[in-house]
Amino acid sequence: MIFSIILAAGEGTRMKSKLPKVMHKICGKPLLSHVINTAKASGIDKNIVIVGNGSDLVQKGIEEEVFFVEQPIGEGVPYGTGFAVMQAKDYIEDDSHVIILYGDTPLITSETINNTIEFHKKGNYEATVLSADFDDPTGYGRIIRDSNGNVTSIVEHKDASEEERNIKEINSGIYCFNGKSLKLALDRLDSNNAQNEYYITDAIKILNDLGLKVGGYKILDKEEIFGINSRIQLAEAEKVMRKRINNAHMANGVTIINPDNTYIDADVKIERDTIIYPGVIIEGKSNIGEDCIIGQNSRIVDSHVGNEVDIQISTILESKIGDNAHIGPYAYLRPNSEIGKNVKIGDFVEVKNSKIEDNSKASHLSYIGDAYVGKGVNIGCGVVFVNYDGKEKHKTIVQDNAFIGCNTNLVSPVEVEEGAYIAAGSTITERVPKESLSIARARQVNKEGWVKKKGLKK
Ligand code: UD1
Ligand code: CA
Repeated sequence: MIFSIILAAGEGTRMKSKLPKVMHKICGKPLLSHVINTAKASGIDKNIVIVGNGSDLVQKGIEEEVFFVEQPIGEGVPYGTGFAVMQAKDYIEDDSHVIILYGDTPLITSETINNTIEFHKKGNYEATVLSADFDDPTGYGRIIRDSNGNVTSIVEHKDASEEERNIKEINSGIYCFNGKSLKLALDRLDSNNAQNEYYITDAIKILNDLGLKVGGYKILDKEEIFGINSRIQLAEAEKVMRKRINNAHMANGVTIINPDNTYIDADVKIERDTIIYPGVIIEGKSNIGEDCIIGQNSRIVDSHVGNEVDIQISTILESKIGDNAHIGPYAYLRPNSEIGKNVKIGDFVEVKNSKIEDNSKASHLSYIGDAYVGKGVNIGCGVVFVNYDGKEKHKTIVQDNAFIGCNTNLVSPVEVEEGAYIAAGSTITERVPKESLSIARARQVNKEGWVKKKGLKK
């Protein structure tokens, strides 16, 4: 059995935020969720998250299935990474492996976690610390090794001697412990140090003093152990994560014209031969099919896009778009819109909570709200679905192959039956029967010579 204990009780004062630090997002997901997902991808059976500051917000905001344990926080209550781990002690099984992670260190990969576990098992260690060489190790705990390369202790920067401060190998804060040894060490931690905190790092010296072997697994990719304390570091971490995501899509056959200016959330799926132009933002749980073109500055949120869809400078929220549809430029699909195959939603067309069946067109300047639009319907320029009477929203139905002339108002609730035509400029308030023409506007009157008679001629 492998457990993880993910420390997420800290305050994160330097974020200057109402939100707990671990709930700040990169690539669409809270920092803590990235860590949880990585732990899960490493095959860790049970993930224990230690929460304290902002505990309610963390527990409410995390969608992943984890086991939360509260660390008491407050004046006079002990503090520190050791105290945090102690909270999980009762859940740790003797013959298990325990991986300790931080909720504010989201770039760690499952490959590294697995390599650490493997190193730990192979070396028959009771504890293994993940380390790295830093040119500037200021602030970090330093790794002290003996002549055999085994780790004997970790010294915090604040407690370190001049000589120890010259050590470049730092403690990432990520460890693998054998369950029994971890529990044994937790019972012996004290807070006799510069910060009066319980340090989990002291567990290393405790085990070493008991004659138990401790390993140090050094990684080369320092990005992985980058911890976030400020908004600047949040942006830096997002940049690394974004690059990983974009590289993975490109490796899968997606063209991204300028990956430095393309923003794709962690859970987005994109099929091969789709081309993504600069400035595109794809968020949440969106899926994009094959051979699509996602044109510049489009934003797609929690939406499903079929194959061979062309989207230009448009915003698409919680909607579905069928194969070979053309969207934009400057279209706005609001939540719960379902666009069929070969449909055209052209420039400055807004669609909300509506279904538009295959082969229909709304090419310019229309508002389609709370509507059902059948197959092969033509919606002329400037058509408005008048769905709101000032009190309530109503539904409009336009059946297959209807033709709605330019500047028509469809005052809902109203139905246009199959194959009917509506003359341009009509305001439709009643049912339009099948295959009929409806004209609902004043008849044109021409008054000959009127301008001259009025004395208006220049
Ligand atoms: C810790 C390590 C240090 C290491 C560094 C790497 C100790 C004593 N020191 O230092 O050797 O180089 O991480 O970043 O462990 N947390 C809790 N509850 C607490 C205290 C902390 O959950 O009571 C969480 C924090 O939210 C944070 C993590 O533990 O995610 C690390 O705590 P932090 O105070 O930042 O440790 P450092 O002083 O940076
Ligand atoms: Ca820290």
